[in-house]
Amino acid sequence: MLHTDIRDIMSGKTAIGENATVCGWVRTARDSKNMAFLEINDGTTQKHLQIVIDKSTLTPPTAATRLGAALKVEGKVVAGMRGEGVEMDAVSITVLGDCPADYPLQKKYQKLETLREIPHLRVRTNTFHAVFRVRSVMAAAIHRYFQERGYVYVNTPLITGSDCEGAGEVFQVTTIGYSDKYKSAEEYYADDFFGKRAGLSVSGQLEGEVAAMAFGKIYTFGPSFRAENSNTPRHVAEFWHIEPEVAFAELPDIIAIAEEMIKYIITDVMEKCPDELAFFEERFEKGLREKLINVISHDFAVVDYTDAVEQLIASGREFEYPVSWGCDLQTEHERYITEVLYKKPVFLTNYPKDIKAFYMKQNPDGKTVAATDLLVPGVGEIIGCSEREADYDKLISAMEARGMDISAYRDYLDLRRFGSVPHSGFGLGFERILMYVTGMQNIRDVILYPRTVGSIR
Ligand code: 4AD
Ligand code: MG
Repeated sequence: MLHTDIRDIMSGKTAIGENATVCGWVRTARDSKNMAFLEINDGTTQKHLQIVIDKSTLTPPTAATRLGAALKVEGKVVAGMRGEGVEMDAVSITVLGDCPADYPLQKKYQKLETLREIPHLRVRTNTFHAVFRVRSVMAAAIHRYFQERGYVYVNTPLITGSDCEGAGEVFQVTTIGYSDKYKSAEEYYADDFFGKRAGLSVSGQLEGEVAAMAFGKIYTFGPSFRAENSNTPRHVAEFWHIEPEVAFAELPDIIAIAEEMIKYIITDVMEKCPDELAFFEERFEKGLREKLINVISHDFAVVDYTDAVEQLIASGREFEYPVSWGCDLQTEHERYITEVLYKKPVFLTNYPKDIKAFYMKQNPDGKTVAATDLLVPGVGEIIGCSEREADYDKLISAMEARGMDISAYRDYLDLRRFGSVPHSGFGLGFERILMYVTGMQNIRDVILYPRTVGSIR
């Protein structure tokens, strides 16, 4: 259907005085005796186009004034009545799709919780328009950041036989439903599709390392799956994961890359999505844009885990989970560090080895690993990062200490036998960085269809 994007009309690409045809959905409607005003939106911009109907020359079809109706409007682009922007004087209106009164988006503001019940319709609201446009722009910025710097984009398998993080959060992949035919787990898995136990990948890192040992610099950008039984505003069972892996990079190098990338993508979103950020600021987070400007114009803090634990203890603050050296930090601790102590993004480094994954480089102190998490105010952890253990024997001993089945990681171990080099990588949770940049407080509101424990549709 020949028509002009509302984005082009609003930006002035279509000159005032020109005729144009637009298509879109009715977002507001005011009808009076002589005039009618409709605001329509086609999803190409946060802004609605006002359609002005002079009833002495055009009688609009009744269905055209119903919220949610899909219209094609031909008319003339004119200067906005209030002296700003543009609007359209309608010459003809065609109803492409009627929208009866039981359309659930009648009220102007609805609670986000309520909208979660209608994922197929909530995308038509201003909030979700802004979220998903920022999501799209940010995805492109991430690709551009890595592509411009010579990284190879690789797609790692989603079905795997190994558990990268070792946290036991793997969704099982099977073609065999409930059956009492098998006497043992071995028998059951042997009969299954792959002849062994398989699951959905929690991270593409191990295969990313394979590719990095060939291409030097790689990144992945795809879904990861975690059967975490935690119902929090920060966890989904299916999330999008950006995982660069860089040969010859040590911990300080990968920290610098992560910081540069975060600043690059935030700068890009600020440039390309000013209307969306203004909207988020008004509706969800006061001071959002100033926060983002601060983030891109200052260094992130780099703080040793051991120092942070001392500071948490010295704060005298009563945490729900008490803090001591060796403990896995909870969201409340992470947020205190980044929101109260440093008031900016913090790379927390050199965690105790016992609370981290097997593949992290062991520090000379014998107690910690060269790992870092990036913590940000309001969200907590958005990146998990480390230098990888490049030494074959040390890697084996870390796996043995965790009781891992070494035979399942033979290919991975080969990387430490054939031309092993220092290398590092990180995983950025796409929905987590989106929460940070948009000010949305629940991860369920930055992904089209959130998958969480006990809920799928
Ligand atoms: O810290 P994680 O577990 O690190 C890894 O998976 C490494 N293999 C990454 C690497 O070095 N290549 O996960 C990385 C990030 C977290 O910091 C978080 O942002 C996100 O993935 N994440 C989740 N996001 C939403 N829902 C969940 N259930 C998530 N679990 C992790
Ligand atoms: Mg982590």
